[in-house]
Amino acid sequence: MFLSFASALHSFVATLQFLPAHSRSNRLLRRLPAVRAALFLLLPLTVLLTACGGGGSNSTPIASLGTTSYAFNAQMTGTTSAAQTFELANLGTAPLKISSIALSGSNASSFTVTTGAIACGSTLAANGSCAIYVTFNPPSVANCSATLTIADNSATPTQTVALTGAGTPAPGAGQTPDTRAAAMLSLMTQAEKLLLVQGGVTTNLTYGYAVPRGAAGWVPAIARLGIPELYLADGSVGVGNGVGPATALPSSIANAASWDLSEATKYGNIIGTELADYGINVNLGGNTNLIGREPRDGRTFETKGEDPILAGKFAAAHISAIQAQHIIGDIKHFSFNDQESGRTLANAIIDERSGRESDLLAFEIGVKDSGVQSVMCSYNLTNGQYDCENEYLLNQVLKGDWNFPGFVMSDWWATQSTVNAALNGLDQEQPNQQFFSALGASVTNGQVPQSRLDNMVQRILRAMYAVGLFDNPQNIQTVPFAADAAVAQELEESGAVLLQNPNNLLPLNASTIHSIAVISGHADTSLLSGGGSAQVQPNGGGMVQATDPCPPCWAQVIWDPSSPLQAIQAMAPGATVTFNDGTNISSAAALAQSSQVAIVFVTVWSSEGMDQPSIDIRTIDEAQITYPGSQAALVQAVTAANPSTVVVLENGGPVFVPFIGPTNALLEAWYPGQNGGPAIADLLFGNTNPSGKLPVTFPMNDSQLPRPSTPQPPADGSTFPVNYTEGYNVGYKWFDANNLTPWFPFGFGLSYTTFTMTNAQLVNNLNNAAKPNFQVTFTLKNTGARAGAEVPQVYLGMPAALNEPPKRLVGWQKVPLNAGAVQQVTIEVDQNDSSQPMSYWNTTTESWTISSGIYTVYLSNSSAPSGLVTVGTLTVN
Ligand code: BGC
Repeated sequence: MFLSFASALHSFVATLQFLPAHSRSNRLLRRLPAVRAALFLLLPLTVLLTACGGGGSNSTPIASLGTTSYAFNAQMTGTTSAAQTFELANLGTAPLKISSIALSGSNASSFTVTTGAIACGSTLAANGSCAIYVTFNPPSVANCSATLTIADNSATPTQTVALTGAGTPAPGAGQTPDTRAAAMLSLMTQAEKLLLVQGGVTTNLTYGYAVPRGAAGWVPAIARLGIPELYLADGSVGVGNGVGPATALPSSIANAASWDLSEATKYGNIIGTELADYGINVNLGGNTNLIGREPRDGRTFETKGEDPILAGKFAAAHISAIQAQHIIGDIKHFSFNDQESGRTLANAIIDERSGRESDLLAFEIGVKDSGVQSVMCSYNLTNGQYDCENEYLLNQVLKGDWNFPGFVMSDWWATQSTVNAALNGLDQEQPNQQFFSALGASVTNGQVPQSRLDNMVQRILRAMYAVGLFDNPQNIQTVPFAADAAVAQELEESGAVLLQNPNNLLPLNASTIHSIAVISGHADTSLLSGGGSAQVQPNGGGMVQATDPCPPCWAQVIWDPSSPLQAIQAMAPGATVTFNDGTNISSAAALAQSSQVAIVFVTVWSSEGMDQPSIDIRTIDEAQITYPGSQAALVQAVTAANPSTVVVLENGGPVFVPFIGPTNALLEAWYPGQNGGPAIADLLFGNTNPSGKLPVTFPMNDSQLPRPSTPQPPADGSTFPVNYTEGYNVGYKWFDANNLTPWFPFGFGLSYTTFTMTNAQLVNNLNNAAKPNFQVTFTLKNTGARAGAEVPQVYLGMPAALNEPPKRLVGWQKVPLNAGAVQQVTIEVDQNDSSQPMSYWNTTTESWTISSGIYTVYLSNSSAPSGLVTVGTLTVN
């Protein structure tokens, strides 16, 4: 079933010829480093030196590698107070041997080369790149000249070319990002402004894949003014595209399942630091679409669940951690991009109040809490207008009401026009210039005011200043994979959710267990990951499945290199641990029967570009390629053969798996990431006590959903409505409003210990003028024999006259407690928080409004109505 990456490449290249030009051009290739490498075979041998942040670029074609010496020049102009980065990229097909890299200059005291940061080593691999850093001393240099010498190891004589520059003062030094941006803007020519508002990738492929850092997008530097290049790369579950091997984190939804914002910061920090290590300075992460509307969406694994507050807070924590690494963060896909089927034609129809209180609220929190500097508008339409030229979404809501100061970039090829897009709020077309190449003419002929173009540029520049792109030299370096893998493991352990555990089947006791059957899911070698632009090329190499599923027809199925089997064996060295691949159901059942415990891995692949045909694995199975038959039948046979069966789910979002009986345990592992094997073993054996809670409702079947099937695009390629008639009743709110009992409710998750919450009291501080709030205080006790963590959740019932959902999540706290320990817990809900916990969207005043009436405060450890404890009521007059 598995192919080497090389043979996968072969089949991909073969496939290319049959793809439509659009997908062939960029969509598929930019994500595949191996395919990119193949393209280089077509290029002349070229060594390219690019000077970033104050540099220019020059490419020197060379006839052959081996004996020629190379010398490159780059222009360095302008005064800079920041270190400069020069990038050497070897686009040739043979390694470039480097004997020396040196920078010397006419005024030696004016700069020093930080040789320790030269990451090139002695050989620069084909298609490799390295960065050379120059630090100025004193930091502000008005005039300088320098010589960069690069030679291969047999070079003689070495040619050298000078870097020269004559400086002008750094614009706006020491001022706010807005002031600095304005100062820089005032120095720019019209042509330079136009360069910044569009992606630099050309449609003929050659440059797109020659972007040295394997990014999804690129915006060229403006060397004259020291404006650095932008490298834009995905990073929702780890660094994506063809940037390089990265730590595959557990799914973003798994992180949301931790309900622990400190884990979210760690998650964002891994993405941010690894992006920085690769020299990427714009992250295309931050998927905040609310999957409760369409839980069959193929991108659920990238998201943060169905609740606007939980999702918004997690997105903000991820983005803040990423921006702390001097990377422009991004929140996407703005907005109502809640299904992949026909995503460029789907027209989300939703009323204003519902939109504000659901999908838009998640974005509002994400934008306001993180200070995110870019927003990616989505492919779909909302209420009849494409999102990347949606006046209401971009100008009115985002830039108007929320005062968003950064820039709006289009999703890849999601721009629909030049003038409308520019006027209605799009600031940067990505990844190319299909429409914005005409922007200059539109300004000249008066269709787009000059002030609007200036505003677009101002927004992009201020984003660059705000995260520190001008002031912090990039430091391309080796990713600390071992340390990051340990964090990936912790993140998985904090986000896995124990859904069923009758009779304490789990945790397994290594000292009493003598035989374990490990069945299916390639659990002998690997763990499933989600596909599409969020795909990570895992460190250590992923195993790539032979065939790409259709739809989406362009995304690889990659299995991360981490073996649950080995980890389980390591945990129970005295037990016989036997693997059966599950493809022969009767032999799997026979092994299960002869073993003390069976652990069966159920895998459900999903990806950008596709939606699941159903919530029910029996229907999904028909479309699955992770298992050749029916996984439901496998589960049925194994659970029948051995009542002590544990089912482990590897999936990206809600799924219903039948035949998990009253004696079986169920662990939701999501896509577990780089160190998922040891993480799962730790959870199964109780080294870690599960503490995750579902950030999304798991329905019983499709008919429980607002739309029993996902709306599909018409055959004629026209736009089609997706009527969000459920309004703000998304996820558990829909289940509450319709008295539906799901398979597992939002907020639910078990532990190997038990907790009680007693003495719950409501403290009403709404009259505190400085900080109106209310608090829920209670006694939390760990009543079991193990340390664990509980997530008490506060829900609010709004005044009846408002006709709001029966309850909304307004606060939570993850509390670790030792066995037997007791803790007083206070969860505070701040009335003026960005999550608008007590407000409804008032369509008359167009504002968040707190209504008079009676509010009911509940405490629980899931959204299930049966478990809610009424703590008290708040009356607002
Ligand atoms: C996806 C985005 C992604 C972009 C660049 C698009 O297909 O929808 O989420 O950031 O590609 O890879």
